[in-house]
Amino acid sequence: MWQRVVPLLALATLSQALDWDAAYAKANAALTKLTQDEKLAIVTGVGWTKGPCVGNTGSVNSIGYPSLCLQDGPLGIRFVEKVTAFPAGVNAASTWDVDLIHERGVALGAESKALGINVHLGPVAGALGKIPFGGRNWEGFSPDPYFAGIAMAETIKGMQESGVQACAKHFLLNEQEKNRETMDTSVDDRTLHELYLWPFADAVHAGVATVMCSYNKFKTFWACESEELLNHTLKGELGFRGTVISDWNAQHSTALSANTGLDMTMPGTDFNNPPGSVYWGVKLGQAITTGEVPQSRLDDMVRRNLAGWYGLGQDKNYPPVTWNSFNNTGGGPNVQGDHKRIARTIARDSIVLLKNINNTLPLIKPKSLAIVGQDAIVNPAGANACADRGCNIGHLAMGWGSGTAQFPYLIAPLDAIRPQAIADNTTLATSTSDDPDAGANAARDTEFALVFITSDSGEGYITVEGNQGDRLTLDPWHDCNDLVEAVAAVNKKTIVVVNSVGPIILETILAQPNVLAIVWAGIAGQESGNALVDVLYGGTSPSGKLPYTIARRAADYGTTILPGTDTFDEGLFVDYRHFDKAAIEPRYEFGFGLSYSKFTYSTLILDLDTTPGPAPGPTGPGGPLSLFSSIGHISATITNTGRVAAAEVAQLYITLPASTSAGEGDIPVRQLRGFAKISLAPGESGVVSFVLRRRDVSYWEATSMEWVVPRGVFGVVVGASSRDLRLEGRFSVDA
Ligand SMILES: *[C@@H]1O[C@H](CO)[C@@H](O)[C@H](O)[C@H]1NC(C)=O
Ligand SMILES: *[C@@H]1O[C@H](CO)[C@@H](O)[C@H](O)[C@H]1NC(C)=O
Ligand SMILES: *[C@@H]1O[C@H](CO)[C@@H](O)[C@H](O)[C@H]1NC(C)=O
Ligand SMILES: *[C@@H]1O[C@H](CO)[C@@H](O)[C@H](O)[C@H]1NC(C)=O
Repeated sequence: MWQRVVPLLALATLSQALDWDAAYAKANAALTKLTQDEKLAIVTGVGWTKGPCVGNTGSVNSIGYPSLCLQDGPLGIRFVEKVTAFPAGVNAASTWDVDLIHERGVALGAESKALGINVHLGPVAGALGKIPFGGRNWEGFSPDPYFAGIAMAETIKGMQESGVQACAKHFLLNEQEKNRETMDTSVDDRTLHELYLWPFADAVHAGVATVMCSYNKFKTFWACESEELLNHTLKGELGFRGTVISDWNAQHSTALSANTGLDMTMPGTDFNNPPGSVYWGVKLGQAITTGEVPQSRLDDMVRRNLAGWYGLGQDKNYPPVTWNSFNNTGGGPNVQGDHKRIARTIARDSIVLLKNINNTLPLIKPKSLAIVGQDAIVNPAGANACADRGCNIGHLAMGWGSGTAQFPYLIAPLDAIRPQAIADNTTLATSTSDDPDAGANAARDTEFALVFITSDSGEGYITVEGNQGDRLTLDPWHDCNDLVEAVAAVNKKTIVVVNSVGPIILETILAQPNVLAIVWAGIAGQESGNALVDVLYGGTSPSGKLPYTIARRAADYGTTILPGTDTFDEGLFVDYRHFDKAAIEPRYEFGFGLSYSKFTYSTLILDLDTTPGPAPGPTGPGGPLSLFSSIGHISATITNTGRVAAAEVAQLYITLPASTSAGEGDIPVRQLRGFAKISLAPGESGVVSFVLRRRDVSYWEATSMEWVVPRGVFGVVVGASSRDLRLEGRFSVDA
């Protein structure tokens, strides 16, 4: 038996990708050379479609400052050809693999830089995803804030290592598409800190250069003119030294937005209301003349903008923009490199095996196979036929909206299964519509039937099949419960593949005794089909796990799309925290996923400094720096007891002491505070080690408005999911 130590997530030693002091020194020197008009040009967009990128600023020749190029989006570069269409954030998350999440960031950043993009508009942790119907949840990672924070930090570090300024968005509480531009939100301070702010703290700690404020209101103020959100919380408490950029058209005032902390307005014209209105530029200059906005505030904005640009080295030999978002027919260089390899690896390792009766999977040279459902093929009109992917026709490998990219190509499942079938001498029968009768006819005489089903969502400016961004239901689209029922009625070995943007209700499908296996493949990007074949045929054991809960009924989530106001009354209790507290049995819990192998867990070791430590202390990027320092490790041994090489995702959950000054019953049953993915050969053992930061054992004490390590006994569990708990321990922090 071998032992291998996996040095997981050196969280305490995350390097700052951006040296703010050095960047500010350069910015200060440049600032002295600028005229007032040049300063105004740097912070004001030139207007929608008035430059090649989705956002463009004025330029300043004297310091070599370009018309800054800001471009969407989180899974690939929008409006350009010859880029990589990566798996979406939700799929990056379901790998639970920090190295892959990091590599994805590096590749996204490299493509951005090669195209001359200065600010890449991603990654996303707002929406966090508290409402499973939320249209844009898939752009981000997970409704668990710890998980979202790790994924934000790794993506940002990766992107910025490649030289592009990342943009953490949307700040804050933008959880749904319905009425997103008028929603008024409020949330108690503890929930704000422990859920919604948490991943942004990691983003700032990782050195993110820019943050985008959101469309909605916060406590009656627009998010882009909220003193509490921007100046106080983001810049004060989290110590953010970079640029706050408005979401496109999310600015509503000249002086108030300036005084409360906005640093750049985008796109510079209000494109709806009324067309052509501009809040900054000349108007900001006038507001400074009249004394409504202090000159020091404009200088601070400019300094922040310049610091990001200098901090990422964009003042030296940065590539030019040679393409145009708005008439880009094949324009721009090919920047894909070998990124299709990363796209395929992430897509493969993101696949979650939900059910697998009698080892139905992997498929081993089946005699015959039916492929059923329009999701198995590329949209006959082309993978990019619908603008911003605003339709659900053919294989679903991306949601819709501004967070999309053009597919350079799309490998749909049937494209990848065909050559495999030829190699295996498997007879294929196909029905590439969602018609139940046609599906049943194809599947009647085949050994296995693979049925492909979908559930899609996106951004609210496009309505798809009645879904205005947010999903109307969590059921399969196109009545595909009926399709699965019809196929399973005639085929005793039916396998369902789900391409969905997030949770989907599977009860009708699970009630079919002939559905022997279910695979969640998410929205996997250009290499989707190849990745699926890698897993279905056993080339790689599935190793993805759910980054969210799959419920038995949509109502079980306890959150839903609201009309005009959201007071976040569910507090901390979203996703598994809610299911655990309310004792609701999920169908597939947070963190769940099967393998072709089996794992045992042993030897829990706690090596922690459990002295409570001093009060938080000095602030750096991300908040009081002591919050990010390590208090030690928890480790466990994982053994592959099955017959095939496979990877396991071990998860650490912590229960805070039952009694804290926040009050009894206020504490989640358990909260994710570590995860580790380890690849093991059959019979091999390895040690996974989880670093705990001070913040990971703290809670936000609302009356003192501080992070506090509570006194008392902490519960520790390490498990294969949030409910498959394998090892238990405890430690105590004494007064
Ligand atoms: C912004 O925060 C600083 C302290 O961090 C404070 O001095 C300043 O007054 C705040 N600005 C506004 C407009 O409240
Ligand atoms: C396309 O964009 C280029 C560069 O911005 C511009 O010069 C040209 O006029 C545009 N063509 C059309 C047809 O809009
Ligand atoms: C699983 O295999 C066992 C043993 O071969 C068999 O009795 C059982 O019917 C199978 N279950 C299903 C759902 O096919
Ligand atoms: C392929 O399958 C067919 C029918 O099942 C069979 O007749 C044929 O011999 C097979 N060919 C090979 C190369 O296995």
